[in-house]
Amino acid sequence: MLGPVILAASRSDRMRRLISAAPVTKQVVDRFIPGEDVDDIVPVVRDLTDQGLELTMDVVGEDITNPAQAAAARDAYLELVDRLKPLELGTRAEMSVKLSMFGQALQDGHELALKNVRPVVEAAAEIGTTVTLDAEDHTTLDSMFAIHEELRKDFPQTGCVIQAYLFRTEADARRLAASGSRVRLVKGAYKEPASVAYQDKHEIDRAYVRILRTLMEGEGYPMIGSHDPRLIAIGQELAHRAGRKPGDYEFQMLYGIRTEEHLRLAAEGHRMRVYTAYGTDWYGYFMRRLAEKPANLRFFARSMITK
Ligand code: FDA
Repeated sequence: MLGPVILAASRSDRMRRLISAAPVTKQVVDRFIPGEDVDDIVPVVRDLTDQGLELTMDVVGEDITNPAQAAAARDAYLELVDRLKPLELGTRAEMSVKLSMFGQALQDGHELALKNVRPVVEAAAEIGTTVTLDAEDHTTLDSMFAIHEELRKDFPQTGCVIQAYLFRTEADARRLAASGSRVRLVKGAYKEPASVAYQDKHEIDRAYVRILRTLMEGEGYPMIGSHDPRLIAIGQELAHRAGRKPGDYEFQMLYGIRTEEHLRLAAEGHRMRVYTAYGTDWYGYFMRRLAEKPANLRFFARSMITK
């Protein structure tokens, strides 16, 4: 019950101001977002890759209001690519981007987002890595898929995310699997109406399995974005049945969540990529993490009371 309330709060400016200013917030945020700038994050990249993990990196921020902010977001990613270059990690460190941060919701936003994201994809390719387009709320997805298709003409390794809770996703998965795309499958983290998305947890899980089967049996590269132990086991089984070996697909989890499982899967020889977010505009990202697990909210509330 709490999840939708927290997701609604994630869109409120008043809540943003309240929570961002709370004295203990930073401590709790650090669990999920291990840095405010690129200087903080380079040691994290080194540490995780030294442990046999891979990364997809997200410069947080989504609610931008003008083209200058979109250009600044592009530049932040370009700086990140620049700082990754000497580490020579190739695809072990890729980037995840939210097109909203590149201007998608502004006037002529589709063109603007494409114009801003392209140099990031080009720069990533120059250092031997790639970019994955995150999935945001359902109203943004036609534009995201069109940008994905456009980018893939020159950079076929560009990936995208699909969300199991949306009714449309089974058809999207079939199309992407047939076209040989890299695809991260997640359950979905936004507040979506019953007209477009399953609301029941079990229905979402069942859809996840159906979609994952499509991806595993297809021509592309499936990325299992989940912390759910059942889905991770099913993913391995589906991969095995489809004749895929570790390396023909990968697991992805968020920084700070089930960390011991990241290491266990990597030790078993799986590709395990950690979605690592950093930056100062962490509010939306942080609130979605609270919504996913009410215990996080209790921990957050308790730390405020005991401060
Ligand atoms: P579920 O929520 O059932 O969690 C399974 C278990 O994992 C829980 O019981 C708990 O132990 C642990 N867990 C999960 N979330 C936790 C949290 N926040 N704090 C503490 N423990 C937690 N969504 C989206 O809409 N667009 C996107 O682009 C992405 N991108 C993305 C990338 C990656 C790598 C991941 C892993 C996830 C996303 N997501 C996303 C988020 C996704 O949609 C979903 O909200 C979360 O992954 C939670 O769902 P699970 O599959 O982990 O299952």
